[in-house]
Order: sequence, then structure tokens, then C-alpha cells
Amino acid sequence: MPKLESFAGIRAVITGASSGIGELLARRLAQEGAHVALVARRKADLERVAASLVNGGARALVVPADVARRDEVFAAAERILGEFGGVDLLVNNAGYGGHRRFVDWDLDDIERIMQVNYFGTVYWTKALLPKMIEQRRGWIVVMASVAGKLGVPDESAYAATKFAQVGLAEALSYEVEDFGVHVLTVCPGAVDTPFFDEQARRRMPDVAKRLMIPPQRVVDATIRALRRGKREITVPGFIRLSYIVRAVAPGMLRRNTKRVAMPPAP
Ligand SMILES: NC(=O)c1ccc[n+]([C@@H]2O[C@H](COP(=O)([O-])OP(=O)(O)OC[C@H]3O[C@@H](n4cnc5c(N)ncnc54)[C@H](OP(=O)(O)O)[C@@H]3O)[C@@H](O)[C@H]2O)c1
Repeated sequence: MPKLESFAGIRAVITGASSGIGELLARRLAQEGAHVALVARRKADLERVAASLVNGGARALVVPADVARRDEVFAAAERILGEFGGVDLLVNNAGYGGHRRFVDWDLDDIERIMQVNYFGTVYWTKALLPKMIEQRRGWIVVMASVAGKLGVPDESAYAATKFAQVGLAEALSYEVEDFGVHVLTVCPGAVDTPFFDEQARRRMPDVAKRLMIPPQRVVDATIRALRRGKREITVPGFIRLSYIVRAVAPGMLRRNTKRVAMPPAP
């Protein structure tokens, strides 16, 4: 059953729940009556989020973990399964960005961003998917990005992590659907969260600044997509037009991207 029509009483794990999209999604799920396990590194922030949830009796677990650490992820998943007795929804949302030219990226930083954004998703999915298959019921959300569909300048290392997530999610969705597990890929454009620090905001092209959306829009779209059993969404939706333009007129998209998205030389 691909549609998650009611969130009341479901057991949800949200990574990156200490800030931005993950924090708001945790709030929304709790409001809808879900039990939520909040994962991120900053324990004090997770406790702040947990204390502020309005959830009429549903449970909130604070689970500090670095998603890039296999041992921490599997220990955290075991604790959650022990406390909740199962899991219905995993939201792979933890991640960060980086806006600079490829030549300016340090190799250790490229490895680290892949470890967090991509392998974090791999570890959490590996840790919780077997339980979902056993239950014959589960939903996995992968918070990817438009940067996982279109490569734009200044986002090479980050885009690679997001393309990896998109590929993983699409392939996995075929493998698990007959076991009652549904995979939803969410591709947001620019979202106004602490994801963008001062420096990133300064380098951001005007068009991205103009099109920036509040995180609540991503949360609302994700909830709606789960309810409708969608497999992939882009928020805001009009950005999907770019995917079509790239398929039918790649030169045109390329010229336009270079004109509007090329950052100034450092
Ligand atoms: N903002 C955008 O424009 C945008 C656009 C497209 C996609 N996205 C994606 O949306 C997701 C959420 O981003 P956001 O905009 O909400 O950014 P954010 O406000 O900076 O939140 C990022 C979250 O990820 C967690 N995190 C980062 N590294 C982690 C690690 N190693 N282990 C565990 N948790 C970690 C952070 O918690 P701790 O620091 O406490 O660990 C925080 O809760 C990311 O995957 C991002 O790539 C964002």
C-alpha cells in the first residue's frame, strides 16, 4: 500500500531533526500523532525540539548520532526498534551543503560530504529496511535536492552526493515495493534554512535568492506526497520544467544555467 494516509500512531525516524526541514517535519509528524525518533548530532537541539512537540500523547525519542558513523547508526537504530517495537517511516534528511568551485574543494571535505549525505542514507536504510520488509510495511523518504537532478556550478561535490541519493532511491523503490515498502524522493530547490551560511548566501545567484522557499513548503509537500503515494517530487514543482528542457534542449539549459547561476570568480 504506497499511500500513507494517516500518521496517527506511526513510528517515524527523522534524521537531521535538530534544525531546518527535519525539525519542522518532526513537529508536523508529531502534530499528526506520530511517535518520532529525532536523530542528529546536537543533543541539546534535539531536546529543545522534543520539548516543543505538540503530540497529544505520542512519544518523542532523542537519539544523538552522527549519520556518517556506521556504528552509531546501527546502535541508534537498535535502540529505536527496542523502544518503538518497529518502524513505519524513515526520513533520511540529515545533510549539509558546500558552495565553491571543485578546484577549491579539499579532498577530505569531498569524502566527508559523501559520507554524511550519501552514506548516512545508506546506513540508516540498511539498519531499518529489514524490519520494514519483515513487517511488510514501511515508507522511506530520501531528502535529496534539485542538485540531485541538475548539476550546477559551485555545487559539484554536493550535487554528487545528491545524484547518488536519487539513484539509490529510484533503484531501491523497485526492489522493495512488492514487500510493502514505498520510497519517496524529495527534491527541494533553495530552501531558507541554516543550510546556507553567510558565505553561501553571498555567493548565491540572484535567481536562487528570488526563488528561495520557506522550509514549511517542503514539509507540506512531503506530507502530501506520502499521503498520495508519490515516488518523487520537486518543490517548487515548476523546476521540473528544467528537467524536460535538459532532455529535449540540453544546449539551451546549459546556456541559461551559465548565464544565471555562474558565481563570480573567487
Ligand atoms: N536548504 C536547502 O536549500 C536544501 C535544498 C535541497 C535539499 N536540502 C537538503 O535538505 C536536508 C536538510 O537540510 P536543511 O536545509 O534543513 O539544513 P539544516 O537546517 O542545516 O539542517 C541539517 C540537519 O542535518 C543534520 N546533520 C548534518 N550533518 C549530520 C551528521 N553528520 N549526522 C547527523 N545529523 C547531521 C543537522 O544536525 P546536527 O548539526 O545537529 O548534526 C541538522 O539537523 C539536507 O539533506 C539538505 O541537503 C536542503
